[in-house]
Formats: sequence, structure tokens, C-alpha cells
Amino acid sequence: MKNIIIFGAPGSGKGTYSDEIVARYGMGHISTGDVLRSEIKNGTELGKIAKGYIDNGQLIPDELMIDILAKTYDALPAGQGVIFDGFPRTIAQAEALKKMLAARKHDMGIMIELIVDEETLLARLLNRAIEQGRADDNEETIKKRFEVYHKQTEPLSKWFEQEGIRNTFTWKGSKDVMLGEIFAFLDTIK
Ligand code: AP5
Ligand code: MG
Repeated sequence: MKNIIIFGAPGSGKGTYSDEIVARYGMGHISTGDVLRSEIKNGTELGKIAKGYIDNGQLIPDELMIDILAKTYDALPAGQGVIFDGFPRTIAQAEALKKMLAARKHDMGIMIELIVDEETLLARLLNRAIEQGRADDNEETIKKRFEVYHKQTEPLSKWFEQEGIRNTFTWKGSKDVMLGEIFAFLDTIK
């Protein structure tokens, strides 16, 4: 499978659909949020830095994130395709990803944008707060994450459009329908 960038607001299903795509097509998966949460759990220096940003719903600085991403990518087996979940989130990260992949003679593949209304996003994240207790799933931090998404990340959508690799999928109330649409599309490009 080609590389896939899965893009969308907090709670849009990036992690959920990535797991489904990995199960169907057998590829690598990098969730930068999961990488950072594991660093926090292990009490590393990086984890200590990341915690302050995550707890405030803010983005980790680009230079740090770009470095982590390249290391994580290089640690995966080459040639099976990778899903980038939660990266890139700024234009600088997107440009760096393109450059990093080009240096390895790889490309970005395709981008999947998940479009979900904010009421649904909030309900999902508040529900996850009860089920999993993720530190940034409280109403105050969720609101900040939405703000950061609109200000710093959403404008990237246009960047992908200009790259000619943007594909949008809009939530219509059913996970199976959304997944069916994503699989139908991926079956045509793999
Ligand atoms: P990250 O972990 O990426 O969080 P996020 O973008 O806020 O997104 P979530 O993981 O909350 O949601 P998701 O889209 O994966 O949805 P999910 O499938 O879980 O990032 C966290 C933080 O790390 C950032 O705020 C930032 O500080 C830092 N960070 C990470 N990457 C960075 C980067 N590149 N640069 C700088 N900083 C970075 O679904 C949500 C919930 O909904 C789940 O519980 C799911 O089960 C449920 N759900 C219910 N119904 C459905 C349905 N039909 N479809 C999908 N999910 C559903
Ligand atoms: Mg996620």
C-alpha cells in the first residue's frame, strides 16, 4: 500500500480508522500522539517536555516533532507503506515530511481527511474520557485542541489539495458507512 496521511480534528477517528486500515492492508502506523503518550508514561526527557503541551491542548514545537517522526519512520520496516496519524499538523511539518520522504525516494502517497461535526467530536471525546481517562480529554482541554486545530492544522487541508492528494470523507452518522467508503477508495489505489 502507498503511504497514507490520515487527517482530521481531535476525535474525528484518525486512530480508529488507522487500526481498521492496518488490519485490512497490513501496513505500518505512526500515531505521533501515541508516541508522545508512551514517552510520558516512561518518564523520558521528551515525555516531560511533551506533557506540558499536551495537557494544555497545544502542539509540540515543530523541530522536536519532525525529529521524532523521522526516527519513528526509519525504525519501521521499509516498503510496506505507513499511515501517518496526527502528523503533519502544521505547514512546516508537512514540508518537512515531504522532504524527509523524498530524501528516502518515497512519497507522501495519499491524504484522507475525516470531516466530522463538532458536536459529535465533543461527545466522542467526553465518552472516551469516561472509558479511558486520557489526560487531555476534559472539556477545557478539548476546546483548546479544537481551537488549535482550526488555527494551525486545518489550513493544511488546502496545502494537500494543492499537492493533489487530498481525499475527503464526511461523517454521515455510521461508522460502517464511513469505513466502507474509505475501503472502497483505498481498494482502487493500492
Ligand atoms: P493526538 O493523540 O493525535 O490527538 P488528537 O488529534 O486530538 O486526536 P484523537 O487521538 O483524540 O482523536 P482521533 O482522531 O485519533 O480519533 P479516535 O479514533 O481516537 O494528539 C494529542 C496531542 O499530542 C496533541 O494535542 C498535541 O499536543 C500532541 N501532538 C500529536 N501529534 C503532534 C504533532 N504532529 N505536532 C505537534 N503536536 C502533536 O476517536 C475518538 C473516539 O471516538 C474514540 O474513543 C473512538 O472509539 C470514538 N468513536 C465513536 N464513534 C466513532 C466513529 N464512528 N468513528 C471513529 N471513532 C469513533
Ligand atoms: Mg488518535
